Amino acid sequence: MRMSFLGSELPLIQAPMAGVQLSALTIAVCKAGGLGSLPCAMLSVEAMRNELAAIRAATERPFNVNFFVHTPPAADPRREASWRAAFAPYYREYGIDPESIPAGPGRAPFTAEAADALEEFKPAVVSFHFGLPPTDLVRRMQKWGCKILASATTVDEARWLEAHGADAVIAQGVEAGGHRGNFLSDDISTQPGTFALVPQVVRAVKVPVIAAGGIADAKGVAAARALGASAVQIGTAYLLCPEATTSAVHRAALKSEAARNTALTNLFTGRPARGIVNRVMRELGPINAAAPAFPLATSAITPLRSKAEAQGRGDFSPLWSGQNATGCREIPAGELTRALAQGW
Ligand SMILES: Cc1cc2nc3c(=O)[nH]c(=O)nc-3n(C[C@H](O)[C@H](O)[C@H](O)COP(=O)(O)O)c2cc1C
Repeated sequence: MRMSFLGSELPLIQAPMAGVQLSALTIAVCKAGGLGSLPCAMLSVEAMRNELAAIRAATERPFNVNFFVHTPPAADPRREASWRAAFAPYYREYGIDPESIPAGPGRAPFTAEAADALEEFKPAVVSFHFGLPPTDLVRRMQKWGCKILASATTVDEARWLEAHGADAVIAQGVEAGGHRGNFLSDDISTQPGTFALVPQVVRAVKVPVIAAGGIADAKGVAAARALGASAVQIGTAYLLCPEATTSAVHRAALKSEAARNTALTNLFTGRPARGIVNRVMRELGPINAAAPAFPLATSAITPLRSKAEAQGRGDFSPLWSGQNATGCREIPAGELTRALAQGW
């Protein structure tokens, strides 16, 4: 069997998607020959170890483990207070006592402790969002035989990742669902789309380039290949697969006409991420200057999300989606993987 440079049969990565999947999706994609991913930004080290053990028990195929690499910000009580004030009318509407809302970490960054736990599993690929961990940790994982990948939203970020030891770069166009991977500049207004970004990154770096953002079907995969990509990373298209843990309100939104309107928003975590426009994005504006630094913005909205979801409403939920949700299908992830790979 011919192998892609990722170690998987197909040059197709199922994008790691924190909050909407665990190992079941990873395993299904790996079994179909793609590179399944396990996102760890919302998992404790112990939970990560359990998921990795489940993957290893189910398949010997290579897989990807993914982390965020932000620097956790110091708590800022004044900012938190003005952020909660922005939600005051909603807390009243839902009968929530703002004093009762715990400040939570939201998303955890990669740590040496996580690397220690990974060593037992030595995954074929480890990928990062928001930059790379310190060079000694990158080298340590490469010594196990891991390939290190990271997202770039600009040509400058792609060059930076190559210079800091990445084995391949994920060129994440602005169409992509979920968090923007930017780490050199916060200016989301200048981030190119996939069609513009991929060929420029291919020209700028020597390492393989993986195209991500807006790829929804086999034709999109073929287009990414034609632009010089060595592989593709696809997220949104997998959100309706039965192996994903996508919530009922999220699934309903993806299947509705609302999915045609996505925007970058910082309301849910403090960092720009692309999701389907919902009530809170319309009423507070998708980008709100009062939001605390990532990931501290998360806790204020969490109880509203729970209350609304209990009523079947996604008004306060992060409905992450890329600009092209037309590839979302309620079919097993293995079947979707093989259909997408037809384009290669
Ligand atoms: C629901 C969702 C969650 C995501 N979570 C992560 C994540 O945890 N880590 C990560 O590196 N990328 C994450 N992403 C971004 C993907 O890696 C990728 O860039 C994106 O899905 C590609 O665009 P597409 O959604 O249009 O296919 C997420 C994307 C979505 C849609």
